[in-house]
Amino acid sequence: MKTTAQAASLEFPEPIVTDLQTGSMRENVRIERASKTIGQLRHVFLDEQARNSLDAETVVYAVEYWRPVSEGTEGGLYWGNSTIYPGVVGEEFFMTRGHFHARKNRAEYYVAVSGKGMLVLMDEHRHASAQEMSPGTTHYIPNRIAHRVVNIGDAPLTFLACWPSDAGHDYATIDEQGFSIRVMRRGERPEIVAQP
Ligand SMILES: [Fe+2]
Repeated sequence: MKTTAQAASLEFPEPIVTDLQTGSMRENVRIERASKTIGQLRHVFLDEQARNSLDAETVVYAVEYWRPVSEGTEGGLYWGNSTIYPGVVGEEFFMTRGHFHARKNRAEYYVAVSGKGMLVLMDEHRHASAQEMSPGTTHYIPNRIAHRVVNIGDAPLTFLACWPSDAGHDYATIDEQGFSIRVMRRGERPEIVAQP
């Protein structure tokens, strides 16, 4: 027989703690973690030769996420953070692989916690734009828009994200076609260049 407490814990997931200074998540065994290294990001950056010259084990970005409901649940939400470390591949800043959502009509929020970055957005016709990220900037990523985050500073860039549990990830379209703009380090400044 279920106790009231057990029934409640299934229906009402226990909270986690998000450290608002750092964006890190803790105190819940269900927090999942993953990372991507230089070696795993083949053909993501413009300069493959430069990528191959770097230590393949170098972590480019790491994520923590909390999935209170199973993947694909309609009407649920997920919560996570991403930290992109500072660095360049050739002249191109470290960045996430980027994706559309598999279920295209799903949106997302990003909130920058620390560091300095650019959020690159691109629609299905390859029209792209970039928004500056700094602590507190809050970004609404509309549905049908691909998104990628670039660290343009010398410190880790951390942001929080909230997205629908049935959004999924379409990485393949970006793997095949890339984004139509790239963010490069030219001198000390970031420069946005077109990538047809
Ligand atoms: Fe997303």
